[in-house]
Amino acid sequence: MKIVFLVLLGLHSAAAVTHSLKNIVTASSQVPNFPEFVIVGMVDDVQIQHYDSNTTRLVPKQDWANRVTEDNPQHWERYTARCLGLQQIFKGYIETLKHRFNQTGGVHIFQWVGGCEWDDETGEVSGFRQVGYDGEDFLSWDVKTNTWIAPKQQAVITKNSWNNDKALMAHYKYLLSQDCPDWLKKLVNYGRSSLMRTELPSVSLLQKTPSSPVSCFATGFYPDRAMIFWRKDGEELHQDVELGEILPNHDGSFQMNVDLNLSSVTPEDWRRYECVFHLSGVKDDIITKLDKTAIQTNWGKTGDGRDGGFPLGAVIGGVVVLLLLVVGIVGFFLWKKNKKGKDGVQPANTTDASSSSLSSSVEVQNTGL
Ligand SMILES: *[C@@H]1O[C@H](CO)[C@@H](O)[C@H](O)[C@H]1NC(C)=O
Ligand SMILES: *[C@@H]1O[C@H](CO)[C@@H](O)[C@H](O)[C@H]1NC(C)=O
Ligand SMILES: *[C@@H]1O[C@H](CO)[C@@H](O)[C@H](O)[C@H]1NC(C)=O
Repeated sequence: MKIVFLVLLGLHSAAAVTHSLKNIVTASSQVPNFPEFVIVGMVDDVQIQHYDSNTTRLVPKQDWANRVTEDNPQHWERYTARCLGLQQIFKGYIETLKHRFNQTGGVHIFQWVGGCEWDDETGEVSGFRQVGYDGEDFLSWDVKTNTWIAPKQQAVITKNSWNNDKALMAHYKYLLSQDCPDWLKKLVNYGRSSLMRTELPSVSLLQKTPSSPVSCFATGFYPDRAMIFWRKDGEELHQDVELGEILPNHDGSFQMNVDLNLSSVTPEDWRRYECVFHLSGVKDDIITKLDKTAIQTNWGKTGDGRDGGFPLGAVIGGVVVLLLLVVGIVGFFLWKKNKKGKDGVQPANTTDASSSSLSSSVEVQNTGL
């Protein structure tokens, strides 16, 4: 998906940085211990704002994100009101969809993801938006034609009604090509020192059982543009290795691992192997030699007498955060029609008090699905 794509881009062009602004709206019914309505806003995959139906307040999640109040002291109050409105609209959407899919009750999730990307070297900008229902694409946005596509038959009626609304389409185009990138640039500027920092991870070798692959586990790095791989005699290995995904930690840093299957390697040959961690923009790699005494296990004590064991907290933490993100990512967005909207495009007051990173990526049409 998008995130994976960005990570890959990061790997292959370490110098150029593609920034992203994204808001994820999740409306759900009957999910235990999860608010019915949640909005999460992110810049470069760092959370900047949060709203849910339990707290009913839109709040900044980074000190630098709060700098939006410099231009508009009422920013959070104003957009809290907007969130309350979206909450009602999305609740209606879920009801409409349940009806359309002949569902009477049970767990249902409707999501909207919208936002934009900006390459700070080429200046290129692009927008994206996607709508999902119960974990499947419901509507997707075609950037080439600036129209909605309906992957599901039940979405065709919505697709036609939205695509036929010329004012809506023009407004979308403006939001994704101009308003959203303007907000993204502004927020990246506020958060520059934090977003552009680099943090190196701690790297450990882990093994579940004596016959399991040895996992080289790096946790605590930032940003998420990193590579990890095994080397033998200085050559990168592609066989008998399994590369894990980059996962977020609770503290905003990331973790990843690469496993090496050593079942056909003799003990004398172990010293020819090493694990390499490379962080984009950092010259020195972290190199960890494969050494039996350095491996942490969870079947007993390690050779150096330290307690073995996986840093399970970190691993599980990452997985939980990932699940929450995945719940968020399938998502979707709509726009709220400008009261004067019938006769044209919203005026181009982008970063003033009438706009926000939220409204630039989540605009909901009141007229329904
Ligand atoms: C809602 O908020 C209350 C009080 O802050 C908290 O105890 C409860 O766990 C929250 N529920 C959910 C679903 O987040
Ligand atoms: C819903 O029920 C109607 C009438 O029974 C049927 O025609 C339609 O195909 C059903 N739709 C779905 C998505 O099952
Ligand atoms: C490791 O490799 C051996 C053979 O080379 C294979 O039998 C075994 O299933 C592999 N283990 C894992 C966990 O992939």
